[in-house]
Amino acid sequence: MTNITSPGEALPFPAGFTWGAATAAYQIEGATTEDGRGPSVWDTFSHTPGKVRGGDTGDVACDSYHRYPEDADLIKSLGLSAYRFSIAWPRIFPQGEGTVNQAGLDYYRRLLDALDERGIAAAATLFHWDTPQALQDKGGWANRDTALRFAEYAAVVGEALGDRVSRWITLNEPHVVAHNGHRIGVHAPGLTDDAAAAAVTHHLLLGHGLAASALRAVVPAGTEVGITLSLTPVRLGADADEALHHASRVTDATMNGLFLDPLLNGRYPEHALPSVLPPAELIKDGDLEAIAAPLDFLGVNYYRPVHLRHGDPARLLLGEEPALPGLGDGIVQFDPHDLEHTNMGWLIDPEGLYELLLRLTKEAPGLPLYITENGRAAEDYLNTDGVVDDLERIKFLHQHLHAAARAVKDGANLAGYYVWSLMDNFEWAYGYQKRFGIVYVDFATGTRTPKASAGFVADMVRANAVPPLPDVWPV
Ligand code: FCB
Repeated sequence: MTNITSPGEALPFPAGFTWGAATAAYQIEGATTEDGRGPSVWDTFSHTPGKVRGGDTGDVACDSYHRYPEDADLIKSLGLSAYRFSIAWPRIFPQGEGTVNQAGLDYYRRLLDALDERGIAAAATLFHWDTPQALQDKGGWANRDTALRFAEYAAVVGEALGDRVSRWITLNEPHVVAHNGHRIGVHAPGLTDDAAAAAVTHHLLLGHGLAASALRAVVPAGTEVGITLSLTPVRLGADADEALHHASRVTDATMNGLFLDPLLNGRYPEHALPSVLPPAELIKDGDLEAIAAPLDFLGVNYYRPVHLRHGDPARLLLGEEPALPGLGDGIVQFDPHDLEHTNMGWLIDPEGLYELLLRLTKEAPGLPLYITENGRAAEDYLNTDGVVDDLERIKFLHQHLHAAARAVKDGANLAGYYVWSLMDNFEWAYGYQKRFGIVYVDFATGTRTPKASAGFVADMVRANAVPPLPDVWPV
C-alpha cells in the first residue's frame, strides 16, 4: 500500500467531530421483495430497459439486508463513530400508506441494534429517492398528498426507532429528485416535465417540514432533525464583470437557493429561473412557515462546483458546456484546464467546498453543518496482492478534508463528515460501473475488501486531523 506522508503540521478538526460513512437503502440493501417490502420507483425504473447502464438493478446490490452485521463490523474496524444509512419507505409502507409492515421496522431495529452494540451513532435518512410505487401511481411528489403520507411515515419510524437514532435527515438531495427525476428524466420516475419538477420541489420541501415536525413530536429530546442538500457553489474568476455576477446569482438561486432560501428564510429566491419556481397556487397558507421551522443541522453533499465565464454558447470550446438557459448572452460553464475530473467526469475542485462551508456559516450563523456526502468514483480493482490501491480517492479525500479543515480554521461551523460511500454500490443510472466506496465490493460474491483509502480515513479519524498536503502527488 502506498503511504503519502508530508512534512508540516496536520490541521485539526474540532473536538467531538463526527466521522462517518454514508450509504442509501436502494443502493446497498438488495432483498427488494423480501419481508413484505413493496416496490419503489427505483425498482420500476431500473427494470425498465434502457434506463440504467447494463440493465443493472438494486435487486441484490451489496446484499446489506442480510450482511448488515458484517457492515457494522467494517464501520467499527475503520474507527468511524457514525453511520448514515437510509430507511426504505416501501419496507415500512409497502403501499406508501395504510398498513405498516412490522417486518420492515424490525429490520431497521436489528441494524440499529448492531450499530449500538458497536458504539456507532446512527444518522437515518427517511427519503433517499425510493418513493413507493403505489404513491407514484397517484402522482408521486407532484401530488401534494405525498407530502402528507411522508409525514405519517416519519411519525411511524420516529416512534419505532427514535430511541436509537441520534440524527434524522428527512430528505436526501431534493434538487436531484426534482431535476434528474422529473425535469431531465435520467433518474426515477423518469419524467421530463418542468411543471411537475416545480411542483415536486415544493411538495418535497413541504414533506420535509411536515416530517420534521412529526419526528420532533415523537423522538427523544436532544435528537437532531435536519435535511441534506446537494449544493453546487458557483465560481467566477477574480476579474468577473457585472454580467457574470448576474449569471452567478441566477445559477446559484436556481440550483441552491431554490432549497436553501425556503428552508433558511421561508421564501423562494427572487433570482431563480421562473421555470423552476413552484407556482403560487401550489403554495398554501402555512407551507413556508412549516418548511422554514428551525433546523438542528444542515447536511451538505458536496461533489463539484460550477465555473462560469464569457464564451459563445453556439461555439463551445474544449472544456465548455452551455450554461443554464436564460442567463443572458455570452455566458458558458467551463472546467478550468488545470483541474482534474473523476470517473464520473465530475470536476475536482476542493476550493468549492471551502467557499461553500464559509458561505453557509455566514448565511445561517450558528447552524451546525455536516458534510453528509463527499467522495469520488474511480476505476478500482483488486491487484494481484488482493489490495485496492486507490490513490486517486486518497488524494481526493485528502484535498477535500484539507479544504474542510481550513474552512473550520477560518470559522466554518462544521460538525462532522460522512464519506460517500462506505462501500461500492448501485450508482443509480450508472449501475455498478461507478465505484465510490472506501470498501471494495465484489458484486458476484458480496465480498467486501477495505481499499487503501479506508486506511487513510481511519488514520484521519484517529488523529482527528488531516495531514498537510504533499507538494507532489504520487502518480
Ligand atoms: C449523490 C447521491 C448518492 C450518490 C452520490 C454519488 O447525489 O445522494 O446516493 O449516488 O451522489
